[in-house]
Amino acid sequence: MKSINTFTLNITVAILDFLYQGRHFQRFWVLEEIARAPYFAFLSVLHLRESLGLRGQWHIYLMKQHFEQSVNETEHLEIMESRGGNAYWIDRFLARHLVLIYYWINVVYYWLSPRAAYHLSYEIEIHAMETYGKYLSEVDGSDIDICSVMNDEMHHAQELYEAMRIIDPDRLTVREKDRKPFPPDVSDLDSVTLVSSVEQK
Ligand SMILES: [Fe+2]
Ligand SMILES: [Fe+2]
Repeated sequence: MKSINTFTLNITVAILDFLYQGRHFQRFWVLEEIARAPYFAFLSVLHLRESLGLRGQWHIYLMKQHFEQSVNETEHLEIMESRGGNAYWIDRFLARHLVLIYYWINVVYYWLSPRAAYHLSYEIEIHAMETYGKYLSEVDGSDIDICSVMNDEMHHAQELYEAMRIIDPDRLTVREKDRKPFPPDVSDLDSVTLVSSVEQK
């Protein structure tokens, strides 16, 4: 599934790169609009699982994480809107249709394979971090807002990596004997460790 995730992401990024050459904030806004949909999808599925009596050990931890991530992504969206990212109808049209499709894909994907769904979002967060880093190094290194957004994306990637680590490979429930201390410690992780350890899998 990971190679399918990477392939899909690379194709999508190539299309967006082509469509948004030189239109940095429109591109960022579209990316932010789409990239937050998985967190809504994860929360939806977690709520449904809870309603069906399928609450796992990490349920509340994951719900808190995904709620905070979704709020943080909305803050990113507001930053991009304040820079004119959503000024054009065509960008709003594209993003709002893509996000509908992407939300439902993530609902199904997360229900069937949470770990694989986390991996796709992890790859997207890494890509977002690199995109903002490239903007800072090539266009405007003094943009504090973008620097802050880049750091947030790195934290999201760390949190998703941790989520992949703590859940059972393909289920959100865990066996009683496998329960680990709560909450998990992510303080020793950095982006380099994250990238290399995921690449080894
Ligand atoms: Fe973001
Ligand atoms: Fe993010």
